[in-house]
Amino acid sequence: MGLFRQNIESMSGYQPGEQPPRGGRLVKLNTNENPYPPAPGVRRVLQNFDASLLRLYPDPVFKDLSRVISGLCGRGADEIIVGNGSDDLLTMALRSFTSAGRKLSVFTPSYSLYSVLAKIQDCECDEISLDEKNGFSLPDDAETRIADASLLIICRPNAPTGNSFPLDRIASLIDACNGVAMVDEAYADFSDDNCLELCRSRKNAILMRTLSKSYSLAGLRLGYALAAPEIISGMMKVKDSYNVGMLSQVLAIEALSDRSHFEANLSKILKTRAFLSDSLSARGFRVFPSQSNFVLVEPPSPWKAEKLYQDLKRNGVLVRHFSVQNVDKFLRITVGTDNEIKFLLEQIDLIVPGPEGLSAI
Ligand SMILES: Cc1ncc(COP(=O)(O)O)c(C=O)c1O
Repeated sequence: MGLFRQNIESMSGYQPGEQPPRGGRLVKLNTNENPYPPAPGVRRVLQNFDASLLRLYPDPVFKDLSRVISGLCGRGADEIIVGNGSDDLLTMALRSFTSAGRKLSVFTPSYSLYSVLAKIQDCECDEISLDEKNGFSLPDDAETRIADASLLIICRPNAPTGNSFPLDRIASLIDACNGVAMVDEAYADFSDDNCLELCRSRKNAILMRTLSKSYSLAGLRLGYALAAPEIISGMMKVKDSYNVGMLSQVLAIEALSDRSHFEANLSKILKTRAFLSDSLSARGFRVFPSQSNFVLVEPPSPWKAEKLYQDLKRNGVLVRHFSVQNVDKFLRITVGTDNEIKFLLEQIDLIVPGPEGLSAI
């Protein structure tokens, strides 16, 4: 018998996006981080923080932070749970609701961590294909397929495709699911609408958000989820006792409280997203309409996505290429600053696609 459980022995781990050394020369457009700094108060609190407080454990039930989230989302403190990033909340959900014989349903392509967590949990993962020809839309029979799921995860806006499924379909999926339905809204702040209201009125719905993208705090590791008190109290039993550090809690309060910084940051990203999408369309790329802080594109023939990814990296720009069937013809490009996107476009214009996708630089 091996040291590991059989399912761990046989699985591959999640592959996070490349994190090149800090201060390097690469323009980093590969992991959907925010190119702008977090709210100024985050730096201020960090500078004035009394390090001796770190002797103590943090608040295990994040009371002060929950109060701020409650003010923003209109849910009670007993309807909020906070995680060490939303990845932590996903782990809690898988551990709470799935096991062998209790299946997870997800759509594909989507955030690949979902199916990796299912393998760790040793539960069935039903991956339901989105319809690429119709802009990665939900298939007509999705409600039937997910009815018997113990946990359904819907990513909206979806990653890496960038689209938002219609709100009435989200409502109908949650209602059709006999288990718990989780809506991963990591990118919702960049979208025209969100699922806050429709999840509020549904007892089996969990809505999940993160500060990693729209609040420029990927390094902090802070996500939160909203659900009915019975769901939250069950997940509280599953979480690590002190899963959110003291610094993370105070800095998150600061970031969430600065609404004008948040709005200004968002409007810059949305403007640059439109510029990036238009510029790549004009160069013959197939550009999927995005409701997120990234854009999924297919380079024009004879370019090959993987070769263009390598050529761009050599020229100083890191974008995301997934070596996964059906997704390997695309690149996912994070919306950076205007200057970063201009540099990306300059490099694309310099790299000449040969018949084999050879770089001429
Ligand atoms: C769809 C989606 N959900 C969740 C996450 C995880 O976010 P966090 O940094 O809060 O763990 C990501 C990160 O890229 C993501 O793309």
